[in-house]
Amino acid sequence: MSEYEYIDHTYDVVVVGAGGSGLRAALGCAERGLKTACISKVFPTRSHTVAAQGGISAALGNMGDDDWRWHMYDTVKGSDWLGDQDAIEYLCRNASEAVYELEHFGVPFSRTEEGKIYQRPFGGMTTNFGEGIAQRTCAAADRTGHAILHTLYGQSLRHSTEFFIEYFALDLMMDDEGRCIGITALCMADGSLHRFRAHETILATGGYGRAYFSATSAHTCTGDGSAMAVRAGLPLQDMEFVQFHPTGIYGAGCLITEGSRGEGGILINSEGERFMERYAPSAKDLASRDVVSRSMTIEIREGRGVGPQNDHIYLHLDHLDPDVLAERLPGISESARIFAGVDVTKEPIPVLPTVHYNMGGIPTNYHGEVLNPTENEPDRTVPGLMAIGEAACVSVHGANRLGSNSLIDLVVFGRAAAIRAGELVSPGQSHAALPADAGQNAIDRLDHFRHADGGTPTSELRLEMQRTMQENCAVFRSGEVLEEGCQRMRKVVEGMSDISVSDRSLIWNSDLIETLEFDNLVVQAVTTVEGANARKESRGGHAREDFPERDDEEWMKHTLVWVGSTREGAKPSIGYRPVHEHTLTNEISYIEPKARVY
Ligand code: FUM
Repeated sequence: MSEYEYIDHTYDVVVVGAGGSGLRAALGCAERGLKTACISKVFPTRSHTVAAQGGISAALGNMGDDDWRWHMYDTVKGSDWLGDQDAIEYLCRNASEAVYELEHFGVPFSRTEEGKIYQRPFGGMTTNFGEGIAQRTCAAADRTGHAILHTLYGQSLRHSTEFFIEYFALDLMMDDEGRCIGITALCMADGSLHRFRAHETILATGGYGRAYFSATSAHTCTGDGSAMAVRAGLPLQDMEFVQFHPTGIYGAGCLITEGSRGEGGILINSEGERFMERYAPSAKDLASRDVVSRSMTIEIREGRGVGPQNDHIYLHLDHLDPDVLAERLPGISESARIFAGVDVTKEPIPVLPTVHYNMGGIPTNYHGEVLNPTENEPDRTVPGLMAIGEAACVSVHGANRLGSNSLIDLVVFGRAAAIRAGELVSPGQSHAALPADAGQNAIDRLDHFRHADGGTPTSELRLEMQRTMQENCAVFRSGEVLEEGCQRMRKVVEGMSDISVSDRSLIWNSDLIETLEFDNLVVQAVTTVEGANARKESRGGHAREDFPERDDEEWMKHTLVWVGSTREGAKPSIGYRPVHEHTLTNEISYIEPKARVY
């Protein structure tokens, strides 16, 4: 008899991940009477949404005129015309309702004098199709993600979502017809293995920032759901678009919110110059993130960085009213003190562009349904499988996400997935019998790594992957550097045949879990660098020095990379699918591509 036995569970819907999108989807499914499980490798309120600071975008118009169409225009422009405009319309027109819903759920937003939700300016957010600066980002001081996550967890419990906490999801269960029928998971506390059958499996597992050496992401951001999709033979989309947030704390990588520039903070080089005036004459420090990160990198490269090595930039908040800092930016004031030894009321914060967000992910439509595109059917869905949040590529962010469009993406598409699940599944609907080999793929993989007795520790291979991504797939890229990156990642994959795991137990085996997470990261690192090497143009977060222009004729299309598992060599194959050139309703027409200046 095998030493591995599964404990079986049956649900209408299983949500994997308990961040903002996972909880919003879970509570929405449960609210519709669907028997819903939510599986999370961390306690729900420790999910990475808790770290989101500056706010959530919605054209409420509390601090001046606003309109969801202006929000849509900004998002399309921010995406550098790689976003799907039907999905962007869905996001922006539903954003206000989603924020009011959060308010009614109990999110403690900061308030204006009249008691309305406080909104601050954020990069790339404008009024009147680019004319003025919009105050569109709804904030709970600079702890907005924390406020939202705790509220959504409470609401999920209220609606009787069943939580499986500190369960590590292993793999999707797919039937012979390509339908997803649930997932397998390991309970990290007691080593038991579980099969969760579900009519709909919703992946809400976040991004894979930890493929890089320096990231604002938590160490848990290893893109586990995306890697499960990869191993099931599905492609990932637009993975070459990695967002560098302009203001990670130099050396530590912790986030200093863009809200600090929204409140009046400015970036200064070694010559004391507010250099963003040169790069983005109208928006200045509030240009979109790709523009600001590139400008900072150019300043450093040209010798105008600050510090003993001239290798970073100063963010000044010391000219702002200390009362405003205490009220609106208490969290980053504390982070700057702890991680940079800086009193923000007196000194600048040393900052550097730092990996923050993955625009790419599992391709989906705006209902959250996962796509498995073919040439003839670019929008073909995978029955039974959905993806939302940073794990997904809807695609509303295209080549570059605007700050505060992530939290709104989580709740709008978390809600959309719940609505869709409610349409597709009836409460208590019967399940077909499980195929005889259901879950065997997960056991084979688990056993492979658990008994890996090579000579190279996981940490050594992981460091090589993180260095490769940091050095070979950074803010600026070139064919030569990317090709070297592809080769270095091939060596990492080859090196995995000699990987060593020393702890053979199944109970709280962090050696094994870190190895499974590393395996998940590797396939995403490979798709990222291969997609970047293939895309011969510059667009949004993908800046090629050898192809500095955007090329809509050839490249206004989504990259798809299939890579399979590392045990089969993680060999990439690349394809493309068209960007949607239509809107959802006739309330706004398709926004034609044009040059992107701020
Ligand atoms: O800067 C920030 O507060 C981050 C926001 C975001 O990534 O949306």
